[in-house]
Amino acid sequence: MKVRRLGQTFFAEVIDVDLAHLDDRAFAEIKKAHLEHGVVVFRDQELTPEQHIAFSARFGPLQVHPMMQFNLEGAPQILMVSSDRHPDGRPKGIADAGRYWHTDMSYMPEPALGSLLYARAIPDEGGDTMFCDMTAACRDLPREKREQLLNARAVHHFASRWARESKGGMRPQQTKEEQDRNPPVEHPMIRTHPDTGEPAIYAGGFVVSIKNAPEELLSWVNEWVAQPKYVYRHKWRLHDLVFWDNRRVMHHATPYPETQRRHMHRTTVKGNAPYLDRQYLARELSSTP
Ligand code: SIN
Repeated sequence: MKVRRLGQTFFAEVIDVDLAHLDDRAFAEIKKAHLEHGVVVFRDQELTPEQHIAFSARFGPLQVHPMMQFNLEGAPQILMVSSDRHPDGRPKGIADAGRYWHTDMSYMPEPALGSLLYARAIPDEGGDTMFCDMTAACRDLPREKREQLLNARAVHHFASRWARESKGGMRPQQTKEEQDRNPPVEHPMIRTHPDTGEPAIYAGGFVVSIKNAPEELLSWVNEWVAQPKYVYRHKWRLHDLVFWDNRRVMHHATPYPETQRRHMHRTTVKGNAPYLDRQYLARELSSTP
């Protein structure tokens, strides 16, 4: 197995590996590459839904997406991000999922560790996914913004974002039960990575408000992290599987022509409740003049 860095500070390609038949040693190398590079892509993978689930579950328990009707029948651990429709016209998946910077399931008390998105059909043009490195963006923060972010907490809410997205008409409205399933949660705006110990900015499109900091900080953060030096844009090939670390990166799907088909399967591995290392916080704040 070889690992080749593609982005400036993150994102690598893992070469010569078959995810359907992986021994423990190869798995350990993949786990290491994922932590080191934040996002890894595996090309030319032939995976059944069962094999996709089995590989994902080696990293931890899987999360089931709350919009159940878009999960694969018989395998609810797979969310369909898809333009396909059922014979009666209902969408099979969320066609326009994630067309804004976000980190998956940040609206949950224990958001996703990682997501594994597998390309089963891709359009001829568009439909790329952009990623940004929140660790590098955190390292470079100007002193004043760093101090604000260290003290700030963000409120994340799934139903608010869904309501905003469904205004465009591509998505159904949520039922009351779906709205109530994920009440707003609060997370620190800088979180410590539980495995690497590195701090990263933690925000994204599910944030509805922030506490202990000026409200404008949110739009400032969105612009800061989207600077080209922190961003890598992935052009999908058929049968790519991309595995990203939601604790380190945000991602942003891009549109494609409505006449074209894009059909992706996503699994999501559950992570820890985000926290900020107290010693790091004390050190950083005491070094602020
Ligand atoms: C997502 O946000 O998980 C979807 C990303 C994509 O479709 O490119």
